Amino acid sequence: MAIRILLCTIAILTLLLYSKPIDANHKRSITADDYARAFDHGARVRAEGMCHNPHPTIVYVNTTDPSKVYMPRGTVLHRCSDRTGCCTDPTKTCEPIEMQTVELYFITITLQVQNGHRNRRVRQSPKVEKFMFTNHTLCGCRERTNSNTSNDNTLDSVDNDFR
Ligand SMILES: *[C@@H]1O[C@H](CO)[C@@H](O)[C@H](O)[C@H]1NC(C)=O
Ligand SMILES: *[C@@H]1O[C@H](CO)[C@@H](O)[C@H](O)[C@H]1NC(C)=O
Ligand SMILES: *[C@@H]1O[C@H](CO)[C@@H](O)[C@H](O)[C@H]1NC(C)=O
Repeated sequence: MAIRILLCTIAILTLLLYSKPIDANHKRSITADDYARAFDHGARVRAEGMCHNPHPTIVYVNTTDPSKVYMPRGTVLHRCSDRTGCCTDPTKTCEPIEMQTVELYFITITLQVQNGHRNRRVRQSPKVEKFMFTNHTLCGCRERTNSNTSNDNTLDSVDNDFR
């Protein structure tokens, strides 16, 4: 840490000795403090925004069938993307390099319209369904490809009426 601060200070001093840059917006000299803030910012982005650990995100279960209710509505899965990890090289993109398939269980209730009772919805007895999801376990920076990336929010497969 001390060595890093020393190196940064040397770098800042060197920059200041050889140039007197002007901040375009404020028309004032860039101070050593400004450089220190920019270095600190860079260090924070490298630490917190590194493309390595997948981040937890909510993935919703397919809800195209409005008569079916899932409990919970979605799940928490880890994902790699350019929103979770910052690649230094702009030609690269943060992608999953290791994945796993996870089985998750949901309570499902199918709501049915009962005729003759003012279209009142009647709850059917709840069932348990098992869904397979993809979870990202490691991220890495990879060369950007123009091929379509798979949709993060789709299920891999469904095992209906699992009990
Ligand atoms: C999503 O819902 C549609 C319409 O109900 C159904 O055809 C499809 O199989 C479902 N897909 C999954 C993955 O559950
Ligand atoms: C998904 O992977 C992450 C690691 O990337 C792990 O911490 C998490 O527990 C996994 N989620 C499930 C549902 O297995
Ligand atoms: C990529 O996506 C576009 C638009 O969604 C589609 O027309 C095209 O067929 C896809 N290409 C491949 C290789 O999947």
